[in-house]
Parts: sequence; structure tokens; C-alpha cells
Amino acid sequence: MVRETRLEPGQFILPFFVTPGERVRQDISSMPGVHRLSIDELIKDVKEAESLGVGGVMLFGLPPSKDEAASGAWAEDGIVQKALRALRGEVKEMVLFADTCLCEYTSHGHCGVLEKRNEGGREVWDVQNDPTLPILAKTAVSQAKAGADVIAPSDMMDGRIGYLRKALDDAGFANTPILSYAAKFASAFYGPFRDAADSAPQHGDRRGYQMDGANAREALREVALDIEEGADAVMVKPALAYLDIIAKVRERFDVPVAAYHVSGEYSSIMAAAKLGWLDRDRAMMEALTSIRRAGADWILTYFAREAARLL
Ligand code: PBG
Repeated sequence: MVRETRLEPGQFILPFFVTPGERVRQDISSMPGVHRLSIDELIKDVKEAESLGVGGVMLFGLPPSKDEAASGAWAEDGIVQKALRALRGEVKEMVLFADTCLCEYTSHGHCGVLEKRNEGGREVWDVQNDPTLPILAKTAVSQAKAGADVIAPSDMMDGRIGYLRKALDDAGFANTPILSYAAKFASAFYGPFRDAADSAPQHGDRRGYQMDGANAREALREVALDIEEGADAVMVKPALAYLDIIAKVRERFDVPVAAYHVSGEYSSIMAAAKLGWLDRDRAMMEALTSIRRAGADWILTYFAREAARLL
């Protein structure tokens, strides 16, 4: 009765990695308990999550092939588009979030298009912010067409929320909300995800477009800009190392706040539990409760089903 913070399965969003083929359930060595799933297997897992009361799923795609233009991201019959169409007929209450980004689809693994520059005789590759925006817009519109309830851009290009909002409106999706990965920090905790999604950058890193973990005020500026541009909900990512940012965003803004308990946060608990150093269930519930206590409305977590079972 005196507990101040409660966890609700309906506030969890479970991420999935969708891969081509049939009856595919591939282990991901750095994420025990998480798999790359073909669409038929995905449907089973999503239905199981729905029956446990999990509120939503976030879809990431592994395309059959990658190229410089990220064409797998926006193809009508792209892997996430196909998965969305298949799920649309299968789920009732569950909210379908589509991750909108290019890094799973580009041959170089960056979240935007690249351009080579010569800097004092040295070859430098830069992510091109503005040329990336139309490709993200095509991706978002194709995902909305395929049945996504919410578009969730995770690329961190500047100005993309306003650009995507207009593109969605123009395509007849004025009612499709945007959850912006607004304060997304360049983090070591994404390591296992990049294995899972095969999206590690081939050269360089993402520090040109993701945020410096030392900056809290800048995070609030990013969130304010995204809301101004039309974001309906905002995300802080990762979660545990950024609980102060979650709390500040909650205090200052009145839109729903999501927090992503990312792959490395999940795998750290799983690895320690496997070694017998931590009690998995207790560590999991404590981590998730702290994220809610900090002020997150929604938690993206690979633990969604396990936590829902305990609630
Ligand atoms: C990038 C993206 C990342 C994650 C989701 N989308 C991070 C990255 O590779 O920079 C990470 C999620 C996780 O670690 O669980 N589009």
C-alpha cells in the first residue's frame, strides 16, 4: 500500500529483430534469451507478449542485403514492412512501433548517408545530415503504410522530426504519432545490439550524431527541439546510466517519456546471473523500477516478458 512506484506490463515495449526466411530462431550470442526471428516465429512471440499484457513491440529489421542507399529500409516489401503487415492482422491491443533508422540497412553501418572528404591528405567519411532526411521520410511513410502505429526515429539527424512529421502528414498519416529517440547518447551499452542487428559502423563511430554522455543540458535542448518539431513522445537512451536525464525530461516536459533499457544493460544482468553473481529476477525488477521511479512512462526492455510474468 505504501509503494510509490509500480511496474505495469502495459508500459513495456519489447524490441524484436526480424530476419528473412521461415522457422528461423537464431541465437544472439551476446544477448542470451533474445533471438533473430523470421516473421512466422515473430508472430508467435508477439502474441505471447500480448497475452502477458506487454503494451507494445519495437521492430528492427535485418534485410536480406545492404547497400549504400539503405534501400532495404524503405522498400515496400522490406523486412519490417512485411512484418508489420503480418502482425497487423494478428494483434489486438498491442501497439506496433517501427524503429526508423538506416544503420541496419546501409553497407557501412552508419545511420545516414556517407560522403568521403579529403582532409589534409587523409580520407574522412562524414554522415550527411540533410541528404539523409528524405530517405528517413520514405522509410517512415512506408512503415506507416504497412501498419505501424507509431514511428520511432532513432537516427539522431538534426531536423528529422519536423521533416518526418510533414512527410507523414502529406502522405495521409497525420494521425500517426512520432516517438522520437530524442536524447540518445553515444554509448558502450549498445554493443550487443550491433551484433544482433549486424549494424556496427564499418569505419568511424557514431559520436558525430549521438550525444556525449557528459551533457545533460544539451539533452534537454535536443528534447525541446524535437517536441517543437512535432514529436508526440520522447525517449532517453540508455536508461540506467542516464536516470538523471529521465528525471529532468519528466520534470520539464509534458509528453510521454520513454526510456530504453538497452542491450548492454540487459546482457550485463544476464551475464552476471549466469556466473551466479547476481539474482537475475531481482536485478531486473530493481533496474526496471528505478527507471519508472526516475519518471519514465514507457520502458523499452528485452526483459518485458520475464518481468510481466513476475508482476
Ligand atoms: C541505432 C540504434 C541503436 C540501438 C537501437 N537503434 C544504437 C546504435 O547502434 O547506435 C540500440 C539498442 C540497444 O542497444 O538495445 N539506430
